[in-house]
Amino acid sequence: MDPRIQVIVADITTLALDAIVNAANTTLMGGGGVDGAIHRKAGPRLADYCEKIGGCETGDAKITPGFDLPARHVIHTVGPFWTGGDRREEELLASCYKRSLHVAMDNGVRTLAFPAISTGAYRFPGGRAAEIAVKTVSDVLAKREEIDLVQFCCFSEAAGELVAARLKALDDAHG
Ligand code: APR
Repeated sequence: MDPRIQVIVADITTLALDAIVNAANTTLMGGGGVDGAIHRKAGPRLADYCEKIGGCETGDAKITPGFDLPARHVIHTVGPFWTGGDRREEELLASCYKRSLHVAMDNGVRTLAFPAISTGAYRFPGGRAAEIAVKTVSDVLAKREEIDLVQFCCFSEAAGELVAARLKALDDAHG
């Protein structure tokens, strides 16, 4: 397994990394779940800054400062809402991870954490989402050396086990 990839169970707003990723919506103006937690802890300057950005497409990512968060930056990405899998949900979820990593590398972010994008309010099945997350991040890191650490920050032991199982499966496949 790539030692730069880890799974942890934590509240992502407590992590003092170069960046944390937010599972946002297209308005970037905040919401519930991890998005609400990030906006609360970053303080009102985050929404002011996001308002100037003017939104984000599903599958894309935008970077802001972390303001009052311990993380220096927030990379906001917008996951797909799961409606059964025939509206490009898998491709769009992979795009969230890819675009977030590219925005990170473009901005000198070397350490970052992802929440389980789309697996809450957006209802993406957790096992399939974990598989896409692990595969997409591993593929990017295999080609690039600018990233030192990616943490999959899960909010429950059960979610952490889904990601750990996918990391192990990938490891076994590579012998
Ligand atoms: N730290 C880490 N993970 C968290 C935290 C937290 N503080 N809070 C919630 N999570 C986890 C949830 O348990 C879930 O597994 O983040 C995952 C994603 O869930 P949501 O936050 O609901 O995100 P998502 O499914 O992508 O839905 C996005 O919800 O809050 C709104 O504005 C947001 O409209 C957007 C939608």
